[in-house]
Amino acid sequence: MVGSAIKLKLEESGYKNLVYKTSSELDLKNQAATKVFIESEKPDVVIIAAARVGGILANDRYPYPFLYDNLQIQNNLINASHQNDVGKVIFLGSSCIYPKMAPQPLKEDYLLTGPLEPTNQWYAIAKIAGVKMVEALRKQFDRNYVSLMPTNLYGPRDNFDLETSHVLPAMIRKFHDAKEAGNKPVTLWGSGNPMREFLYVEDVADAVLFTMESDLDETLYNVGTGKDITIKELAETIREITGHEGEIEWDSSKPDGTPRKLMDVSRMKEQGWTYTTELKEGIEKTYRWFLENRDEVREVKV
Ligand SMILES: NC(=O)c1ccc[n+]([C@@H]2O[C@H](COP(=O)([O-])OP(=O)(O)OC[C@H]3O[C@@H](n4cnc5c(N)ncnc54)[C@H](OP(=O)(O)O)[C@@H]3O)[C@@H](O)[C@H]2O)c1
Repeated sequence: MVGSAIKLKLEESGYKNLVYKTSSELDLKNQAATKVFIESEKPDVVIIAAARVGGILANDRYPYPFLYDNLQIQNNLINASHQNDVGKVIFLGSSCIYPKMAPQPLKEDYLLTGPLEPTNQWYAIAKIAGVKMVEALRKQFDRNYVSLMPTNLYGPRDNFDLETSHVLPAMIRKFHDAKEAGNKPVTLWGSGNPMREFLYVEDVADAVLFTMESDLDETLYNVGTGKDITIKELAETIREITGHEGEIEWDSSKPDGTPRKLMDVSRMKEQGWTYTTELKEGIEKTYRWFLENRDEVREVKV
């Protein structure tokens, strides 16, 4: 999802000399193959949007690939970039790197100040290692490498699999399917009480472009809207947009995750970047895309 949005954004902005590989063409877990790729392409900039990504249940059920795949992918790319003198690396992490009970909104300085949310600690620990790789290269070799930590993202080309997807695409799919089935009740995970922030994927692509074209002062930046809503409010918004008219049932046997996860986005704002797409508009665009691509939407299996 994020990689395609960045590709479109760069093309729209006039960048032509772009190089990509799909996971079937290049397995980034393979150190030797990744090294050969970077050595032969000699890119000026490396943007790391590849990762093993998934929602709460997938993280909890399949801890090993969330730790191992992410460590391998980022280690191979960051180290090969450094060894080949790549001028800029942009590493994408996630807001789950911050401690579960950190004060809200989450500031970059709260990293490693307390225990993580246990359900996605595997993914978070890998991402924290990536942030520290970037920081170490900046400190020791004065590399112009940056880590961006986006909040929850959503948009076209998201994963709509009900087991591995994030909350927002899962809700779009559930409400849409229930409406099609005659407005059947929709069962949603958890209590509905946690608060979450969401950013439209085109906005994160814009933040990546901004980072690529700027000399930022720090190594780590949050990327979000700085605004959050409850999962219940999100469900009502999506129900309205999809036109579902049935009941909502909350399955409290499923985990809630962190009670609140709101980013402090002031560091990025001070550098001159801010988001533009409001949540309702972003969900409407995503639902339109979902309807137009219903038969081909991505369903990631772990
Ligand atoms: N989605 C979010 O809410 C969110 C929030 C914050 C941060 N982020 C960050 O944004 C980045 C991209 O996330 P996304 O939502 O775009 O995830 P995504 O749609 O699942 O994309 C991840 C991509 O990585 C590729 N990939 C996985 N393993 C690979 C491997 N071993 N070799 C080569 N490619 C591999 C996948 O290819 P295949 O599909 O072929 O496996 C896929 O194209 C991640 O770093 C994630 O942490 C995402």
